[in-house]
Amino acid sequence: MNSNIFNWRRVCSAFLLLAACVSAHAATATNKPEVKAGRERLSLDRGWLFHLGDVVQPPIVGHEESYSNAKAGNAPGAAGTEFDDSDWRRLDLPHDWAVEGPFDPKANISQGYRPRGIGWYRRYLKVDPADRGRHFELQFDAIATHATVWVNGNVVNRNWSGYNTSNIDITPYLNYGDSLNTISIRADAEAMEGWWYEGAGMYRHAWLVKRAPLHVATDGVYAVPRAGKGKQWTLPVEVTVNNSGKQASDVTVEVTLFDPAGKQVGRQTAKASIGVLKDAVVKLPFSVNDPALWSIAKTNLYRVATRVIQDGKAQDEVSLHTGFRSIRFDAQQGFFLNGEHLKLQGVCIHQDHAGVGVAIPDSVWEYRLRRLKELGVNAIRFSHNAPAAEVLDMVDRMGFVVMDENRNFNPSPDYMKQLEWMVKRDRHHPGIVLWSVFNEEPVQGSEVGYEMVRRMAAVVKSLDDTRPVTAAMNGGFFSDLNVSHAVDVVGANYQVPDYDRYHKAFPNKPFTSSEDTSAFMTRGEFKTIKEKGIIASYDDLSDAALWGNTHRDAWEAIAARPYVAGGFVWTGFDYRGEPTPNDWPAVSSVFGIMDLNGFPKNAYYIHQVQWIKDRPLIHIAPHWNWSGSEGKDIRVMVMANVEKVQLLLNGKALGEQQVDPFRMNFFNVPYAPGKLEAIGYRGGKEVARTLVETTGAAVALELVPDRAQLAGDGRDAMPITVRALDAQGRAVPLADANVTFAVTGGGRSIGHGNGDPTSHEDEKGATRRLFNGLAQLIVQTNWDSKQAIDVVATAPGLRAAKISIPVKAVAAEPFVASADAPTTFVRSWRIAPVGDTRPDPNQKLAGFDMNTWGWGSPPLWAGAGAKYHLYRSSFTPRKNLADGNGLIRFGGIRGKAEVWVDGVLVGKKDGYAPAPLDLSLPAGTGKREINVIVEAEPGQGSGIEGHVTIEPLVK
Ligand code: GAL
Repeated sequence: MNSNIFNWRRVCSAFLLLAACVSAHAATATNKPEVKAGRERLSLDRGWLFHLGDVVQPPIVGHEESYSNAKAGNAPGAAGTEFDDSDWRRLDLPHDWAVEGPFDPKANISQGYRPRGIGWYRRYLKVDPADRGRHFELQFDAIATHATVWVNGNVVNRNWSGYNTSNIDITPYLNYGDSLNTISIRADAEAMEGWWYEGAGMYRHAWLVKRAPLHVATDGVYAVPRAGKGKQWTLPVEVTVNNSGKQASDVTVEVTLFDPAGKQVGRQTAKASIGVLKDAVVKLPFSVNDPALWSIAKTNLYRVATRVIQDGKAQDEVSLHTGFRSIRFDAQQGFFLNGEHLKLQGVCIHQDHAGVGVAIPDSVWEYRLRRLKELGVNAIRFSHNAPAAEVLDMVDRMGFVVMDENRNFNPSPDYMKQLEWMVKRDRHHPGIVLWSVFNEEPVQGSEVGYEMVRRMAAVVKSLDDTRPVTAAMNGGFFSDLNVSHAVDVVGANYQVPDYDRYHKAFPNKPFTSSEDTSAFMTRGEFKTIKEKGIIASYDDLSDAALWGNTHRDAWEAIAARPYVAGGFVWTGFDYRGEPTPNDWPAVSSVFGIMDLNGFPKNAYYIHQVQWIKDRPLIHIAPHWNWSGSEGKDIRVMVMANVEKVQLLLNGKALGEQQVDPFRMNFFNVPYAPGKLEAIGYRGGKEVARTLVETTGAAVALELVPDRAQLAGDGRDAMPITVRALDAQGRAVPLADANVTFAVTGGGRSIGHGNGDPTSHEDEKGATRRLFNGLAQLIVQTNWDSKQAIDVVATAPGLRAAKISIPVKAVAAEPFVASADAPTTFVRSWRIAPVGDTRPDPNQKLAGFDMNTWGWGSPPLWAGAGAKYHLYRSSFTPRKNLADGNGLIRFGGIRGKAEVWVDGVLVGKKDGYAPAPLDLSLPAGTGKREINVIVEAEPGQGSGIEGHVTIEPLVK
């Protein structure tokens, strides 16, 4: 205890209203020297409590309750501090509750027939008193869909989008020391923002960021390079510094630039004065000569390190990466990166994956992007929303260009904040080359659409004028006033017949496909069977959406037109919902080049040979297991990026064809079991060869992990391919074994899938059927694990497969320990007028009387003077304490005391000296009233000094 406390008590004895004394005490803290410098970004993924379904409070009818309900910190029910959540489920983030539930034919088709509903999360945390004075920010990277957040019973944020981050300053609401802090979140996923599966709940990461009062604001570093003359570049850095402290302060802002090798290549400082609770923007322009450029092939990233320094001491430090690259959309020639032409070989992607829904671990995102890289993709449109920040970091590191897309088309203030957030968070990423303000809006061909986009584009430009603004239009291009007049690059969804017409009418407007294709394909299927919802893999026109094109036609239309910057295939991966052209029992889309697991469909090979030029590729479809079709023609599709292909069946030449790079090559081959081989030639020389062969029946299972080891950080996860092998060890393409998984050791299963768009299997259960030979199991390490993960897969009649995945011990990402709350804090007390005669502890106080008695929270201190003090509160004990197993615990009482619960005396403290007091809580449920009479020692102060808690008798 320091001298502040002593002074505070003396000063307070002059006051009657004790609550005022408590705040006077807090105000004695200052910015320095006590407040810790530095920043901690702590994971808040662990230790949440979850309740599926709404928690509805009974209507408030009484005056006292109405009055209390309207006060800060008094949110009722699950939003409040004292709610009994002892039977809630404990879980870690990321979490998507929709994917855990069953399918329901009555639920929304677009959301994949998954009921979504409403859910609640709660979490407790303690804050070290040594952190008093620092700035505390909660960051929820995304919550689906409408989320309300309370901290200690105060509503602190409402966010009406499932795709953007909520950054919430919680500093003013915090309790320090033993007293817990409660975060409550109501996530309403009945609300929809899309027509695809959107998941439900806290499906991205959560963070607690602690900073010194003088700190860099969140997303407060602007560092977007600009090309100058020759090899000269500028990097105009702008830093927003915030002062949450109690004194205006002078600071030095220092920015250091490091090249991709980590060598310092520049340093600038600037001074600023920042008022109390104010921001200051500090500009530090850099000139950089001949930087190492960022490109798809060489992802050179520079680090911008920012420090806020006060009196020679760093108060805050933050780093981000940026990249030097130039972009240009040319109306005649398309897109240029660093002056070099780059046709955009792009895909649109949503954000769900087999087994995990939208709660995709970062490492599974890395797997997905790696699959896209292998496919030859160089551009990604994150449709129709901004992705997780970690995904954009990967994009920069792995080398993709990106269209970053805003979700809600609306220039009103609430929605404009979502757009601003996206641009501010993302503008330093060199991968981002286009900002998209919308996707397919019915008002796109009207003045209304134009006016809305004009405003949104202006906001984007005010935050970043280095990238063009686009909008993904599916019509309206030719009306007198339309959205295309307000954007820099026109994006067309489908509309292939209008490409040339548009370009002719507006030859100076840069143009790209923002979405194309929309062809249907079921992985591993080669006959369309409409009634079963199965769609063949030959990419026929009859298997493409009316508004779309086959994979081959769409790319040919784009590739043939230099003025079209590129294409974005709808979609890179299947996703849940939108099972077009089917409906129940189909529950997921079949638009993907890959299925929901990232397993290639035939479209994968079509695009791969179209997009990859630097190595010979050849692929044959279908598989060669057609027992029962002996002698019948099988339609064979050969996909190759060479000059000529030759086909052989069991060593016998069947013919040669010149490769058609757009249409691919087809052969009709009378079926005979054996080996079907394709050889690719360039300049008359064999450069590639592949085969499909008839397998025997499945005899064994095989597990193929995606990587050699995992990090034991509780986050690292990997997909494991599950397949069946014949006696010769060949993968059996039509195997459909029902596989049971057992995962033990240092990790667990977090879900599985098989890519069957009609599968209704439980994605979290122990079994999964192979679909056309494949399934995928996703395992994740446990926190602080170094024990290998052992996976055993069994299926009736097949030899089991076993693998052991080594787990490397790694330091856990710094995290906020989760605090348990078996304890109810009795915080809000009424204080009767003081007197020298013993008051009646059970005297009535009229429900409308909010003023005769005072208000306060422990420590409740009264200076020397009156003899008797009466304090009253109420609490609702947790269910497990209703039978008399509870303890009423006073951290300390100074003076003699009587404690009454519901009109009954439950205990006494006989001495005046300060001491704790533990009393048993009489059995009973519901709200209990507690009254405490404190009798002061003559001439001395008195009061309830420590916390008052309701706890289990035995902890
Ligand atoms: C587009 C839309 C996409 C998806 C696709 C299916 O119109 O932008 O989100 O619905 O159609 O073909």
